[in-house]
Amino acid sequence: MVLITTDDGSHSIYSERYGVTYHSKYGAVTESAHVFIDAGLRYKAAVQRDIAVVEIGLGTGLNAFMTRLEAERRNLHVRYTGIEAYPLTVKEASAFNFAAQLKAPERHADFLRLHRIAWEREHELSEHFTFTKHQTRLEDFIPETTFDVIYFDAFAPQAQPELWTEDIFARLYQALNPDGVLVTYCAKGDVKRTLKKVGFEVERLQGPPGKREMTRGVRGE
Ligand SMILES: C[S@@+](CC[C@H](N)C(=O)[O-])C[C@H]1O[C@@H](n2cnc3c(N)ncnc32)[C@H](O)[C@@H]1O
Repeated sequence: MVLITTDDGSHSIYSERYGVTYHSKYGAVTESAHVFIDAGLRYKAAVQRDIAVVEIGLGTGLNAFMTRLEAERRNLHVRYTGIEAYPLTVKEASAFNFAAQLKAPERHADFLRLHRIAWEREHELSEHFTFTKHQTRLEDFIPETTFDVIYFDAFAPQAQPELWTEDIFARLYQALNPDGVLVTYCAKGDVKRTLKKVGFEVERLQGPPGKREMTRGVRGE
């Protein structure tokens, strides 16, 4: 694992397996806040307090941790599911400065707990946040429940074309509740066309720093 510091001061890592970084080099925390928390979680929180989120590519745990903090701040109840094929170790995760960067250094132990706790079972971590992580490839994941928000945070299509297919998006569409959304940092034309093809209404939103656009797919009623 190669630890890097992104432009907003928050850490990320470089994947030697895929030859890409886990987050935008312009700011890991900034990107997560913009793409997943603002365009995904907050968008749904405007209309409901109970929100089921699934993240494709749990990775460093940054999105899960920020979601927990946001759920506590906004008095939500989030049921969070993280999918990860190649988990990091607790030792690797202990190097990340996310809690400090989020001005909550006292929550570093809560962040690490996401990495420490057992896979394949539900953990009620607070009255606002229930967490389950599955060690599996997305291709093999069979959801046992439906979701309101999908954080689609796979590596980019150039690095991992097998995860941006019509088959995968059709399965994710089926896993969404009515009015559910899929958010991703990716704004490639091909990806938007595939999302439309499987039934999503596709919105182009302003991207985080360093990216002109991002994408939100909405499942209609
Ligand atoms: C862009 S990184 C995710 C970053 C993560 N959301 C975070 O905040 O750190 C993509 C993640 O997808 C995982 N991954 C790669 N192939 C996968 C697959 N086939 N199924 C599930 N996860 C996969 C990688 O190990 C990596 O953790």
